[in-house]
Amino acid sequence: MADPAPPPASRRPGSATPPIAGAEELVVLVDRTIDPRVVIVHEPQSGVAEQYRTFRTNLVALNAAGQPRALAITSAIKGEGKSITVANLAAALCELPDARVLVIDADLRGPSQAKLFGVPREPGLADVMLDYVPLEKAVVTTTIPGLSLLPAGRAVRNSSELLGSTRMSDLIGALKADYQWILFDTPPALPFADAATLGARVDGLLYVVRLEQTPRDQSTRALELLRNAGCNVLGTFLAGSRSDDGTVRAYVLPDD
Ligand SMILES: Nc1ncnc2c1ncn2[C@@H]1O[C@H](COP(=O)(O)OP(=O)(O)OP(=O)(O)O)[C@@H](O)[C@H]1O
Ligand SMILES: [Mg+2]
Repeated sequence: MADPAPPPASRRPGSATPPIAGAEELVVLVDRTIDPRVVIVHEPQSGVAEQYRTFRTNLVALNAAGQPRALAITSAIKGEGKSITVANLAAALCELPDARVLVIDADLRGPSQAKLFGVPREPGLADVMLDYVPLEKAVVTTTIPGLSLLPAGRAVRNSSELLGSTRMSDLIGALKADYQWILFDTPPALPFADAATLGARVDGLLYVVRLEQTPRDQSTRALELLRNAGCNVLGTFLAGSRSDDGTVRAYVLPDD
């Protein structure tokens, strides 16, 4: 029996498909350094990309005055989609005019933003906090216009102390002069204090829930813990639920 036909090129992430029949010479450039799960870049027309844009729009609406905002993104447990949400939300914010967005990988326990954007992990946040490297040497520009990244940097043992230090609050204040949106990726909130500690020092916290995976009691417990720590929980992003036809969806709910 013949092998099944490969999927049409238009369905493969990173493929260059002529959008118009007969326009074979037209080449669509796709950035292969950026992880294919950053769908805002690789599948901008997809339903999931649209959901990230809805999330962005809701977020922007909460900040009508257009003030610089530092936000932390977390979830109860490991693997709920925090890092992918940070990357897509940042890319979606960069679709707006005059975007100045900085992603900071504050998941010093399991960093992933450098890999997602195809840049080196070091130097980064930990190196800046420990005074090994000046900030301007650690921030890298990505291939997405308007989007900069401060990777996690060197491995440290005291990540929660670093994130809760006065130095961290000063750094956030200083960065607001240069960036409109500062998005922090963080470790999961139940096993580690990092997200709650940092979350209490930023303007707001976005909470990710993997619908079919996260036990409800854990999710509720983590939210309670974050609120008790003084975090301003702005909203919840529901990641990875499946619709009836099996397609993966992601969408936003108001916080309450
Ligand atoms: N919206 C989504 N829909 C479906 N799958 C998703 C979604 N977001 C992330 N994933 C998948 O879930 C897995 C974990 O994603 P990610 O690394 O972003 O999670 P995380 O919460 O940052 O994990 P960790 O706690 O280990 O840092 C990945 O395989 C990713 O492809
Ligand atoms: Mg992560």
